[in-house]
Amino acid sequence: MKALLYKSATKQITGEAKALAFESFSRPVRIGLLGCGTVGTGVVKLLRKNADLLARKLGAPLKLVAVADRSLKPQPELGLTSSIIIRDPLELVARDDIDIVVELLGGREPARTAILKALASGKDVVTANKALLAEDGERIFRAAAEHQLAVGFEASVGGGVPIIRTLREALAGDRQRAVYGIVNGTCNYILTRMSEEGKEFSEVLKQAQRQGLAEADPTLDVEGHDAAHKLCILVTLAFGVLLKPKQVYTQGITALEPQDIACARELGFAVKLLAIAKEDNGAIEARVHPTMTPVSHLLSSVKGAFNAIYIQSEALGSSMYFGLGAGQMPTASAVVADILEIARRRLTATRLVASPLGYPVQTLRAAPVKPIEEIVCQYYLRFMAADQPGVLGKIASILGRHRISIASVIQRERATVGAVPVIMRTHEAREKNLRMALREIQRLSVVKAPPVFIRIEENL
Ligand SMILES: NC(=O)c1ccc[n+]([C@@H]2O[C@H](COP(=O)([O-])OP(=O)(O)OC[C@H]3O[C@@H](n4cnc5c(N)ncnc54)[C@H](OP(=O)(O)O)[C@@H]3O)[C@@H](O)[C@H]2O)c1
Repeated sequence: MKALLYKSATKQITGEAKALAFESFSRPVRIGLLGCGTVGTGVVKLLRKNADLLARKLGAPLKLVAVADRSLKPQPELGLTSSIIIRDPLELVARDDIDIVVELLGGREPARTAILKALASGKDVVTANKALLAEDGERIFRAAAEHQLAVGFEASVGGGVPIIRTLREALAGDRQRAVYGIVNGTCNYILTRMSEEGKEFSEVLKQAQRQGLAEADPTLDVEGHDAAHKLCILVTLAFGVLLKPKQVYTQGITALEPQDIACARELGFAVKLLAIAKEDNGAIEARVHPTMTPVSHLLSSVKGAFNAIYIQSEALGSSMYFGLGAGQMPTASAVVADILEIARRRLTATRLVASPLGYPVQTLRAAPVKPIEEIVCQYYLRFMAADQPGVLGKIASILGRHRISIASVIQRERATVGAVPVIMRTHEAREKNLRMALREIQRLSVVKAPPVFIRIEENL
């Protein structure tokens, strides 16, 4: 069947092109896979299940010739026989019977060395490794440019959501103003359940772990680091700027309390972990933190483990890209799409992917990053205060002295014992001023606990 297909395709092509095409159709594009865990197994399944479809789209078969994984057992039903399984990733990248190396090991080493060695030996690369790209992307993309090879990384942000290609290609003619991403499905799942069921963070996290929606060690996700890695990649694509994770202000969701999520809703907002990037006169604002978004905004409707990236562009205006940001098959679909795109270029001899990051790597710049103290936004504030007259006045007067004006106040019914929550929403204020005011307010004897604040993005 396959042989017939290639034959009939070549029949329609004449002359010189026929000779070229025949050469292409006759040889499979050979894949070497590093890491066959969750996503790697998904890629193996998809390459197998869609083999005919992919061969038709490509005009040549994709052939998995080797898999390097330290713990993989043969699974003949997936074509994972002992003859193609090896243990050492560096042994795989040194082979000369591989065209494209697919790195799905995760972590920094040996993934970094394997990718650089693959490029140095003439192999294109596909990876989903956002942590590695955020830290070492510049080195990897420079090596790819030097060797005129491709690096596909669609699965590194948004899993199956095609956001990398969208920014690099579909939005390339336009200037981006801001990017707002719900890019960590674990956090979005936890926040959705906290909001809908009024449960504590720790309780929902345990349930998410039992359902396989959170890692045994969830630190990277719930402390916001995974979102910060992805934001670094998005910033490069959107603004042509190189950014390291340590430059991104990062605050996770572990300290969020259900009462603040409930109050936010009362004020007309949802609470999301947003990865936010903006360009402001050449400076970059890059931050990851819990954010209140209006309930009527599209981002607020993104529930559970879904991801969404909302982009403001000058000519296009607003656009949003939505889908599953993780999981075996959604992520595998993005990896296989990268394999296919690179294989197409290999077969048509247009090997060089000019600018995988949307800009030639030598034109990427390091831009000043705005310190978090310099950002200006609205704030939600909660004070636990003694239930006595004059408290509100004292708090308001300190805020006023720091040039923070109050947009609204919610004061709960009188407490029989202890402190009552005083909830405020401010107009736009500079974060430096807010922090100074909160330090002063905390010192008041009538304030019984450290104040809570959540940033509000209302005009997105
Ligand atoms: N899972 C997702 O939904 C998702 C979504 C988007 C992007 N990604 C990215 O995709 C990549 C892979 O993620 P994953 O979830 O598939 O990870 P995973 O399930 O842990 O799979 C990684 C596999 O590589 C093997 N491995 C790791 N280091 C190795 C080494 N030095 N030598 C040989 N084998 C090694 C692991 O073996 P052991 O099991 O023995 O450690 C495991 O089988 C990561 O970069 C991740 O950030 C994942």
